[in-house]
Amino acid sequence: MKKLFALLLAVVMVLSLAACGEKKDDTTVENKYNTKTPGVLTVATSPDYAPYEFYAIGEDGSAELAGFDIALIKYIAEYLDVELEIIPMDFDGVLLELANGSVDLGVAGISPDPDRANSMDFSDIYYEGGQAFITVESKADMFTDLASANNPDISVGAQNGTIQMDLAQQYSADADIVTLTKATDIIAELVSGKLDGGYVEYDVAVAYKANYPELHIVCEVPYEVEGNAVGVKKGNEALLAGVNEAIAACIEDGSFSKFVADALEQASGNIYEGLLEDK
Ligand code: ARG
Repeated sequence: MKKLFALLLAVVMVLSLAACGEKKDDTTVENKYNTKTPGVLTVATSPDYAPYEFYAIGEDGSAELAGFDIALIKYIAEYLDVELEIIPMDFDGVLLELANGSVDLGVAGISPDPDRANSMDFSDIYYEGGQAFITVESKADMFTDLASANNPDISVGAQNGTIQMDLAQQYSADADIVTLTKATDIIAELVSGKLDGGYVEYDVAVAYKANYPELHIVCEVPYEVEGNAVGVKKGNEALLAGVNEAIAACIEDGSFSKFVADALEQASGNIYEGLLEDK
């Protein structure tokens, strides 16, 4: 009798295991959020943008993706119950991959610029941040206001593909405008004296100033589409709705403010200024 019971139990266990397996397969096949790879969220980012996304160097010298965009995307993946694959690249690459539909999301301090609306959808705004014109302390006297950024004798940097490039063209039309692939190149070239000024997100200026005290924030720069959104592959409505729900939950439960505080603290530590492949 005992043996029979044990046998029955074993059969029940095997059956329920099989049921579990099937259930898992079902959810994978269903692909609720129409992601490129079922069950996986493929996300492009551009980790040259503290406190949004950057490489933080750990105590053992290893570089790790950090920043509030990275924390947010991890939260979103967990909320949607999908795996997360983050692919680092330059910012213009993030825009391109989204436009090609080869990634599901782009999280890179993206401004919901109406000019981009044909190639991606935007989530709700998750962070409010403005724009800045920056220089170094030793050149602070050259720049009294934004009007002084429009000078044929100066060179001004902005990152390729960004709205800051539009701002440079708008407010520094007479200057020599230098296009750089990484936002951190702007910082490096300002510090080394190759550039006189640059346009970046205001909080990025504040974060890099923590590492490079010689940076000087001249002024805020007006821009009509304030704030940052997640870029969503055009037409993926299920994913857009899921992302918006996750963002709302992340803000609502206080996680997002914690992510921002943590990122600011981490950004004032050791930051690696490029893509890891460059090492
Ligand atoms: N907010 C700006 C834009 O959307 C710049 C974003 C740059 N992001 C970055 N990770 N480098 O054009």
